[in-house]
Amino acid sequence: MKKAIIALCTLAVLGSLAQARTWDQIKASGTIKIATEGAFPPFNYFEGKKLTGFEVDLGTAIGKQLGLKVEWVTQPFDNLLIGLNQDRYDFVIASHGITPERQKAVDFSNPHYCTGGAIVSKVGGPKTVADLKGKTVAVQVGTTYLENVQKVAGVGSVKTFPKDTDAQAALMAGRVDVWVGDKFSALDVVKAQGGKLQLGSLLFQERIAMAVKKGNSSLLKELNSSLATELSNGTYAKLSNQYFKMDIRCK
Ligand code: ARG
Repeated sequence: MKKAIIALCTLAVLGSLAQARTWDQIKASGTIKIATEGAFPPFNYFEGKKLTGFEVDLGTAIGKQLGLKVEWVTQPFDNLLIGLNQDRYDFVIASHGITPERQKAVDFSNPHYCTGGAIVSKVGGPKTVADLKGKTVAVQVGTTYLENVQKVAGVGSVKTFPKDTDAQAALMAGRVDVWVGDKFSALDVVKAQGGKLQLGSLLFQERIAMAVKKGNSSLLKELNSSLATELSNGTYAKLSNQYFKMDIRCK
């Protein structure tokens, strides 16, 4: 037991001492390792065994534009930034909103899209922030949805789920009154449920960005410049139209 604890502590210390790969090291290796969740459609998800989605295509385009081979890693959402700080991969693209709290732990790129957290319920259910009074709300754990729902006074209870799709399922099963999730995901879910669900108001707005390990400024610079290229050369517009039928870049 004691040995196991010492081993764990050593791992934690070694992890925190390890250096993230700089841009020069990544370039020399020829491969960039990108992490995402793989359970957040239409941004990052699995189609059978194939990892796909707007952020997966965008991340792959960025890696290729940088002249690298791309290797994808998937992790539960709540582990992504922890693994980043343990140097398990070079950057994360998983719909993280830029928040002051997260900025203490990691460095964010320029935003790759702008969105908001939306209130979704069954037809006839809560639609506005005021309607949330006394209601049960489902959100994915570790998200800005949780943080923002907790700020609303009078909410009955908040239930957290490991995956966003589990929170949606709880709404469909009638185990909660409301699901708060991304407005673009919500548009798809509402459409897929064919008249059973309704999209209410936005609880908050956010800017979504890629994350690198804190202090990895050489990689951050390359990611920002590659993103700028994709935004201006038509690649971003094409992918955005493919997944959303509109351009979701920050205006
Ligand atoms: N945008 C929200 C946040 O910043 C949710 C992100 C969830 N991402 C995911 N891959 N499940 O917390």
